[in-house]
Amino acid sequence: MIFESHAHYDDEAFDGDREELLSSMQENGISYIINVGASIQTTKNTIALTEKYPFLYGAAGVHPSETAELDEEKFSWLKEQCTLPKIVAVGEIGLDYYWEEPEHDIQKKWFERQLELAREIKLPVIIHSREAAKDTFDMMKALHVEEMGGVIHCFSYTKEMAREYLNMGYFFGIGGVVTFQNAKKLREAVEYIPIEQILLETDSPYLAPVPNRGKRNSSLNIPYIAEAIAQIKGISCEEVTAVTERNAKKLFFGEA
Ligand code: NI
Repeated sequence: MIFESHAHYDDEAFDGDREELLSSMQENGISYIINVGASIQTTKNTIALTEKYPFLYGAAGVHPSETAELDEEKFSWLKEQCTLPKIVAVGEIGLDYYWEEPEHDIQKKWFERQLELAREIKLPVIIHSREAAKDTFDMMKALHVEEMGGVIHCFSYTKEMAREYLNMGYFFGIGGVVTFQNAKKLREAVEYIPIEQILLETDSPYLAPVPNRGKRNSSLNIPYIAEAIAQIKGISCEEVTAVTERNAKKLFFGEA
């Protein structure tokens, strides 16, 4: 079965058919889904989804682009949510320098606070890092994030950067981008990263793989991603699915 490690089913793109779509997941081979919070509101929405669907778990966190909304009161609320039984990670958190706002100091402040929160409550982290490779890595290294473990979601950096995160025991979320024709650098990184450190993800509703690129994404597209990884690694699609499911259970459920 497929373990979907990163989706946003609370997104309005699913307002028309969320119930129908999520109810069809298990019969389509999806065993578990991690729905990822990206703000206070979407963390609330994520918790509501975890209460409704037994196979859906959540991550609570504020995405770097949304960190301007944070203050001490909201941060304590976030902290409380992290103790809920179906919240299995802090995320998505990180740095995003693609957009100009919020300023880097604000992003860094709340990235650090949320990393410390994960350490305190002993949850892994889901990292979002875009055009901020050096600052993300430097902060993670300085804060000893190998102690809580986690995944670099939508990994988009080089093989060299992958080596650094592998040394910290991190996992790599690989999604639809691996099927894009211009993703040569990412395919090299996937070739390099051991399959034991890879998680399957979609970032739904975004980043649909070829042949559905540009359309609304859902976890039902994961077989295209698994197939691309299988080809790069010269193993079967079944092996990619089985090993990545085991990896995700290890990270999020603490299974051996
Ligand atoms: Ni995401």
